[in-house]
Amino acid sequence: MKKVRKAIIPAAGLGTRFLPATKTIPKEMLPVVDKPTILYVVEEAVRAGIEDIVIISGRGKTAIEDFFDNSYEVQDKLSKDGKTHLLERIEKAKNLANIISIRQKEALGLGHAVLCGRPVVGDEPFAVLLADEIMVGTPTVTEELADQFHKTGISTIALMEVAPSEVSKYGIVKAEPMAPGLLHHPGKLFNITQVVEKPSASEAPSTLAIPGRYVFEGAIFEEIKNLSPGKNGEIQLTDAILKLAQKGRMNGMMFSAQRFDAGDKLGYLKANIELGLIHPETGDGLKEYIKYLAKKL
Ligand code: G1P
Repeated sequence: MKKVRKAIIPAAGLGTRFLPATKTIPKEMLPVVDKPTILYVVEEAVRAGIEDIVIISGRGKTAIEDFFDNSYEVQDKLSKDGKTHLLERIEKAKNLANIISIRQKEALGLGHAVLCGRPVVGDEPFAVLLADEIMVGTPTVTEELADQFHKTGISTIALMEVAPSEVSKYGIVKAEPMAPGLLHHPGKLFNITQVVEKPSASEAPSTLAIPGRYVFEGAIFEEIKNLSPGKNGEIQLTDAILKLAQKGRMNGMMFSAQRFDAGDKLGYLKANIELGLIHPETGDGLKEYIKYLAKKL
């Protein structure tokens, strides 16, 4: 079986939840402490053995491509100033993987964005990582999904439990546990039988949601290609997931990493605080500040 060596990172969305900040800056470039969110996501993919990363971009997103390219002026200045640590960080970030950029010319949905990566991925298995979710922990979610995929050859996507009030934000699955034991334990495997994109609480088949981490067999592309527009008139990735599920070829897996929804204002702030607390330059100062704030609140 082919190993998962390629990933698609859809990053063509307009980032309306962060306007006006994202009028001229791609949301994927907003910093969490000192790294753009997309760098956390690329690092996660690379730790899972991914070598080629297809970024699905759109108009106004060239800052993402530039980030993974040389920046001679900045590098020259850091080198002349002897700031080798920063220079090394920049060098490392741009050499993490082969970054390939493909434009999605029209916002036709997440499924369509993933299909745009087909010319690079071909028939190989591949990972999809949504760029506004930061997953922190070892092993990484993509690593766990790829390891599982390598055992079975069956597409495997991350699952997480959400509150009933949250189901309308996610793809929600109906799934049968593949073995007895605790349902929400990291590594717990499910056989997915039904998927509904952003259902109301009354329509939801469960409270098991799909966060933005997936490993697919190449066959998903043909399923996406044959889809008609679904929820909100868009080509939905969840509809293609359902097609493979109906063929008995879609597993779900609980994961161990901590997830931050950096595409949401509050989630973004939480990511900055938690990652700021473990950052060597900001951890102590931020801890003091939080204690001070807690007294004031
Ligand atoms: C997308 C998917 C949805 C998934 C979610 C995870 O929705 O369509 O199935 O649960 O990402 O964040 P979006 O948040 O892009 O609207």
